Amino acid sequence: MRSLINILDFSVEELQELIDTANDIIARPEAYSQVCRGKKLATLFFEPSTRTRLSFEAAMYELGGNVIGFSEANSSSAAKGESVADTAKTISCYADIIAMRHPKEGAPLVAAANASIPVINAGDGGHNHPTQTLADLLTIYREKGRFSDLTVGLCGDLKFGRTVHSLINALSRYENVRFVLISPEELKLPSYVKKDVLRRQGIPYEQTTDLEKAMPDLDILYMTRVQRERFFNEEDYLRLKDSYILTPEKLKNASKDLCIMHPLPRVNEISVAVDDDPRACYFKQVLNGKYMRMALIMKLLKEAGRI
Ligand code: CP
Repeated sequence: MRSLINILDFSVEELQELIDTANDIIARPEAYSQVCRGKKLATLFFEPSTRTRLSFEAAMYELGGNVIGFSEANSSSAAKGESVADTAKTISCYADIIAMRHPKEGAPLVAAANASIPVINAGDGGHNHPTQTLADLLTIYREKGRFSDLTVGLCGDLKFGRTVHSLINALSRYENVRFVLISPEELKLPSYVKKDVLRRQGIPYEQTTDLEKAMPDLDILYMTRVQRERFFNEEDYLRLKDSYILTPEKLKNASKDLCIMHPLPRVNEISVAVDDDPRACYFKQVLNGKYMRMALIMKLLKEAGRI
């Protein structure tokens, strides 16, 4: 059974196929409005979400399908101690496809190993968030028209930021991509990502704490939130949370074609004064996420022989 747990589960060609489908949905939404008629998406969210859960739900409704699910662990039998494996087997009796978010790294992989329907990882702890990466890729493609020859600045919490880990994996497969990793010392990209992805593939990267110095070189600036929920110690969170705040002033030396991205939610990382800048793309990412999730649901249901 084909699932999406890690963005590398899909080839570059398959990612392009999803982007092409998403662009076609944007151009001809009516052609897709009944594709999933009679099918059910189960959204199993053991962790809070606004965009991912509701865009999955909107995606399934816009494909003519239905949605069941829960939005917090306490309203499911996980609160009584039920395992992820048993939950996945149970939901397979009710739905055609699962989107699961879980605070534990690897939980969606366990679900996929036990479900008899496709499972989509909607974010697992500080590990991966492949459907955010689908939203990011469509945004980059629509804004830049390419994935190669890009200098990508990733700024903020690169240690726990699952969106960053998935995006690095995805962009590492294209030609002449260079990363500038901008973070406080304590929130640097994990060694395993640097070793297994960047160094292994000979992808150029530099690490810095200085956002303004890095700014002029960037084609893309991907801001991230310092995530309170991943910290063991409140003092460390409070010390680090406002490490980077993007303001119009800090964009003075940025390229006029810069694409400013953020997976959202934001707390303080981007001043609202930046929202009116034509280079701000983060609310476009939100909308693109729905179209890519529509394309993804269709792909996995087709491969499972359910549509
Ligand atoms: N980007 C993202 O995953 O947002 P939510 O946590 O609101 O789903």
